Amino acid sequence: MDELIKTEDGSNTLFSKKYKQPFHDLKTGAIKESLTKHVIPAFEFHKQKKHLRILDICFGIGYNTLSTLYYILKNNLNISIEIFSPEFDFTLIKSLKDFDYPEEFYEIKPIIEQLSNTLEYHNQNISITICIGDAREYIKNLENIDVVYQDAFSAEVNKELWTVQYFTDIYNLCNNKAIVTTYAVSTNIRLSMFEAGFEIYEIRPVKKKQTLAFKTKQNIEAKYIDMELKKQRNTEAKAIYD
Ligand SMILES: C[S@@+](CC[C@H](N)C(=O)[O-])C[C@H]1O[C@@H](n2cnc3c(N)ncnc32)[C@H](O)[C@@H]1O
Repeated sequence: MDELIKTEDGSNTLFSKKYKQPFHDLKTGAIKESLTKHVIPAFEFHKQKKHLRILDICFGIGYNTLSTLYYILKNNLNISIEIFSPEFDFTLIKSLKDFDYPEEFYEIKPIIEQLSNTLEYHNQNISITICIGDAREYIKNLENIDVVYQDAFSAEVNKELWTVQYFTDIYNLCNNKAIVTTYAVSTNIRLSMFEAGFEIYEIRPVKKKQTLAFKTKQNIEAKYIDMELKKQRNTEAKAIYD
């Protein structure tokens, strides 16, 4: 069983025995990290859209999916969403009905229970599907995605979800207006995304910087990272390949 850890904002996460890493940045906090690094940048960017198709890589304890529901309810958004989320660990998903989530998720407790029991939840405005299996296979069947929450463990232990080949599949399933959100900021990971075709931007919603990626150049409040220039200046840095 993975160890339960209380993070800086009071919300609980787990420390993965298999990957030897916590599921969240302990200093930022689990729910705060999910909201500031994934949900808020994605929903701010897609303010005008009334329907969003979201890929949550990977479900884990589910903070990114659950914070998305919390954010919609809290802001009373008139929007419908579809969330698709692959996850290896069936035992983890089965255990989530008993996980000690923060009080922000109390209202969605019945949804958590249903996801944990049946791996899906559907009502008029919300459709969530968790798929037990390898994300690399799962993503090959998706299309027209608006948002990708790229939240795998780090590349040292979860390499298959940070390579050029992986991001090429992510690029292909994204529509032209899609946004990819990730906590990762290292040059080699940004190069993997860039070599797959993405334009790279940086924001700093909390103390730490983070990366946003898009299929085309954007006129947004974020720092554009010129990856061609990075490549010229840092010839040591290399994209990650399978
Ligand atoms: C950092 S955690 C995800 C954190 C998640 N956003 C949350 O809020 O808990 C990474 C998750 O990805 C899963 N995972 C890693 N590689 C995978 C793969 N190739 N396919 C499916 N799931 C994978 C792990 O089992 C783990 O639950």
